[in-house]
Amino acid sequence: MLVSAEQLLKDAAAGHYAVGQFNLNNLEWAKAVLETAEEMKAPVILGVTDAAAVYMGGYRAVAALVRAMEAEMKVSVPVVLHYDHGTYEGCKACMEAGFTSVMFDGSKYSIEENLEKTAEIIALCRKKGISMEAEVGSVAGEEDGISGRGECADPEQCGKIADLGVTMLAAGIGNVHGVYPANWKGLDFSVLSAVKERTGSLPLVLHGGSGVPEEMMKKAISLGIAKINVNTECQIAFAQALHTYFAEGRDLEEKGYNLQKIMNCGMDGVKKEVRKKMQLFGCAGRA
Ligand code: 13P
Repeated sequence: MLVSAEQLLKDAAAGHYAVGQFNLNNLEWAKAVLETAEEMKAPVILGVTDAAAVYMGGYRAVAALVRAMEAEMKVSVPVVLHYDHGTYEGCKACMEAGFTSVMFDGSKYSIEENLEKTAEIIALCRKKGISMEAEVGSVAGEEDGISGRGECADPEQCGKIADLGVTMLAAGIGNVHGVYPANWKGLDFSVLSAVKERTGSLPLVLHGGSGVPEEMMKKAISLGIAKINVNTECQIAFAQALHTYFAEGRDLEEKGYNLQKIMNCGMDGVKKEVRKKMQLFGCAGRA
C-alpha cells in the first residue's frame, strides 16, 4: 500500500537511520526501486520532479502506474509516492493524482511568502492524510530544471516553518544537487546542529545525496537527517551499465538488441546503487 511518509520518518528519526528517496527517471525505474526495497526489507520513498513527471506522461500516469505496480508485485514494505521540489500548483495536482506525499519548495520565495504558502499546503495535506516537506535555504546545483543558489538555511526560519506543522524539513547545509564540485567544502554540521536544536524531533531531509562521503553521511544521520534524496548516482550507474553493454559489443551478440535485455542491464546498475545506499542509510531490514 502507498503510505504517507509521516510514520516512516518518525521511526527513522527515533531509530537514528534515514529512509532513502530514490528519484524516478522513467517508469522502469519504479520497478527497479520497488524490487530492491522489497529485497532489502526497506521502507522507501519514490521521488518525482516536474520534469520527470512530464517525461513519464504526467502526474496521474505516474501515480496510476506506481499504484498498480506496487499491488501487482505484492510489495510488502511501506512505499511513499512523493512529489519532489514541487510548485504550489503542482502540489495540488499531485494530491489529486494520488501522490501520498508532497514537497513544496518555497526556498525561492521570501520567508514570509514561503511560510504563507507552506501553511496553505499543510492544511490541504492534512485533509488528505498526505505528508508534506518544506524547504529553507536552497540546494545548490541544477537538476531536472531545479536550480538553487546553495545558501545555508537560517535555523530560526527553519523553526518557524517547523512550527507550522510540516512533516519533514529540507534545510540547506552546503549540499549540492548533481555531482559535487572538486572544491566542495562538505556538509556544514554546525548549521545542521543549529537547525536540529531549533526544530526538535522534526525529521530533517538531505537533498543531493549522491557523492556525499560515507562518514559524512553517517554523521548527518546521527545529527537528525531522517530522509536522504538520491538521483544522480543512480543515473550514473544506469549510464555506466549501458556503456559497458555496448562497449563490450553485447548488443551485437545473439538477440543483444532486445530491449528488455538492454533495459534490464541498466536497471541492474540502478538496483546495485539503491542496495548500497539502503545499507549505508541503515534503513535495510526496517520494514
Ligand atoms: P542528487 O541527484 O544529487 O542525488 O540529488 C537528488 C535530490 O536531492 C532530489 O531532490
